[in-house]
Amino acid sequence: MKVNGTPTRTIWLASDGRGVEIIDQTRLPHDFVTLRLDTLEDAERAIRDMLVRGAPLIGATAAYGMALALRDDASDGRLALAYERLHATRPTAINLRWALDEMRAWLAPLAASARPAAAYARAAAIADEDVAINHAIGTNGHGVIADLWRRRGGTGVFNILTHCNAGWLATVDWGTALAPIYMAHDAGIPVHVWVDETRPRNQGASLTAWELGQHGVPHTVIPDNTGGHLMQHGMVDMCIVGTDRTTRLGDVCNKIGTYLKALAAKDNGVPFYVGLPSPTIDWTVSDGVREIPIEQRDATEVTQMTGRTAQGSLATVTITPPGSPAANYAFDVTPARLVTGLITERGVCPATPQGLLALFPEKETPR
Ligand code: MRU
Repeated sequence: MKVNGTPTRTIWLASDGRGVEIIDQTRLPHDFVTLRLDTLEDAERAIRDMLVRGAPLIGATAAYGMALALRDDASDGRLALAYERLHATRPTAINLRWALDEMRAWLAPLAASARPAAAYARAAAIADEDVAINHAIGTNGHGVIADLWRRRGGTGVFNILTHCNAGWLATVDWGTALAPIYMAHDAGIPVHVWVDETRPRNQGASLTAWELGQHGVPHTVIPDNTGGHLMQHGMVDMCIVGTDRTTRLGDVCNKIGTYLKALAAKDNGVPFYVGLPSPTIDWTVSDGVREIPIEQRDATEVTQMTGRTAQGSLATVTITPPGSPAANYAFDVTPARLVTGLITERGVCPATPQGLLALFPEKETPR
């Protein structure tokens, strides 16, 4: 996608072919800053401190992190250490484990001398695959939007609600939930996006609003509690969200607050779709609510807020009384029964084991 008119990805190899460059997403929307990762520690910090975030981008960064880790020592021990340290950075998004498993499976059989070059090549391939997957999700999701739009008469603004940031900033390019919106917008459907601010880290207000604005997609930022009211008044035609991990039964783990939007959508007959790249499916898990580890983050993300002052500087303020404890669960699980459809790179399916296996038959376990 474009930043000030320039095609940009969220992660790319530096021109010297050794370092990796990223957008520091903690600085958006106030400053567009790129920075360079050179070591395993740099990659760990970028994921853990959310300079990069979003399930697919976490996976791609971990893959490049493995390449950085093996640059000067590609022994078996170093491979195992890099896997463990990168895997420990964030617990919920399954793309992290998926990308590390891909890298290890690719590299482990090779001689140590062949691993560094192979690691860079495989990481680049994972990044390119992510772009292709998201482009396909965009095409399939555009079909869903166009269909709903036609069924609604094909006139007037088509209102889509999204939660968190599942746009190109959360992936290598295009995004998952936002790719269909970009394609529908580019095809002339008059979409308007309700952007949940997504407390506590405000990925909606800071990132989704910024990237929709860069692409010229009409949007309005709303407090997280507004969606139910809008749905009751017929002001939401569909919801699309991303996911950090979806089970083989179709339960969808995503940013905290997604579940409440899905409940409101069900109650009001609003279609609720999920942009789902296949690396985000955890085929090993069945019961999403009980089996998916939910990240708990620092309470200061709840008790404090950061923004730009009227004087132009950035300031962090405390918004809670001294001594009030705060809880910061980062994700929740939306049960499959609340999901209208999963938009994958292979097509759209119901959020059921049969639906997923029809698209990914190779995941059927032999009886
Ligand atoms: O904590 P984050 O910002 O990494 O959470 C991101 C989300 O929850 C996204 O909605 C999800 O990763 C899907 S991104 C394509």
